[in-house]
Amino acid sequence: MNTVATIIPHSRPAIDEEDLRATAEVLRSGQIAQGPWVERFERDMASFVGVRGGVAVSSGTAALELALRALDVGAGDEVIMPSYVCPAPWLATQRVGAEARLVDIDLDTFNIDPIAACQAVTKRTRAIIVPHLFGLPADLTALEQIGIPLIEDCAQTLGVTEQGRPIGTVGRLTVCSFYATKLLCAGEGGMVLSNVKGDFERVRSLREYDGTSTLNPSSCNAKLTDLQAALGLSQLGRFPDFHERRQILAEAYGVALSSKAAVCPTAPPGRTHGYYRYVVRLPHLRTNSDGLMRLISALEQQGIHCRKPVFRPLHRYLGQSGFPNSDEADRTALSIPLYPDLTDDEARQILQSLDEVFP
Ligand SMILES: Cc1ncc(COP(=O)(O)O)c(C=O)c1O
Repeated sequence: MNTVATIIPHSRPAIDEEDLRATAEVLRSGQIAQGPWVERFERDMASFVGVRGGVAVSSGTAALELALRALDVGAGDEVIMPSYVCPAPWLATQRVGAEARLVDIDLDTFNIDPIAACQAVTKRTRAIIVPHLFGLPADLTALEQIGIPLIEDCAQTLGVTEQGRPIGTVGRLTVCSFYATKLLCAGEGGMVLSNVKGDFERVRSLREYDGTSTLNPSSCNAKLTDLQAALGLSQLGRFPDFHERRQILAEAYGVALSSKAAVCPTAPPGRTHGYYRYVVRLPHLRTNSDGLMRLISALEQQGIHCRKPVFRPLHRYLGQSGFPNSDEADRTALSIPLYPDLTDDEARQILQSLDEVFP
């Protein structure tokens, strides 16, 4: 039972007057399906990420599926991915008929463990999906040495670097998500980006089914609308402000929690952090199977909506074992509200509650 009148949500989109104006303009134009705004969004995102081209699609999940299709991944092929991630990479792999090979994560970064990825390679491996989780780049330098095409999953991370390289520019293909509470929101939406023209042209030809001389069973309707693209473009213009606000809040959280038994997020040498999520590890919960959920309930009673950052690791859905770091993250990782729209007062209230419940 709640004891407070208002809850600070775990996440909230930052919508301003400019977003309203941009979407109203599209509505007034009468052209609301895929059109010139989508084209501009593709161009501006490609230049923001630092690659040659992009193709807007209906979701991050669709982007992953079409990225795999661009690489011709299909039946009989294997795709490596971490277990500690939302179901989207696994679903995309199922859609194209390939097999997902799950590997463990590096607990300090929550990202795919490059050594485990290397050990999982077989003759059938065609791609590695590399989610950059919670705003922190994965170890791209180690991963690219494996020599398998990387699909960078930037659904949770944009505008940061690994060894001085902007993320999204290292892999063969990159995917983004524009879901309502992502770094840039369009309600729903996604994009596939690449430096290889043939790759994104392939995605372009698969995202819609009309106007082709032959029927292609892999084609779909995965288009983004101009209405969504206008919102995405307006948000893109504010990305530097969003990024800065996240840094300020993360800094304040780090200082306030420094005396607590919580492992706060930091960037390893050579990487920068975008703090899409502020995920702490609480090692004292390692041996307590429902400790995290009880903590989340206690915080909710105080009006703070925290969450497990990954609902359930993939290996647990699939009945697999041998992923100790993913299991530990599942038991000990807590995502604390942090987003550009969070006010200073709300941040103070969050820290006050954490001070009470964290040892
Ligand atoms: C790492 C990661 N990849 C892919 C996706 C899928 O994106 P979408 O929800 O737009 O399909 C998400 C969404 O939560 C995600 O977090």
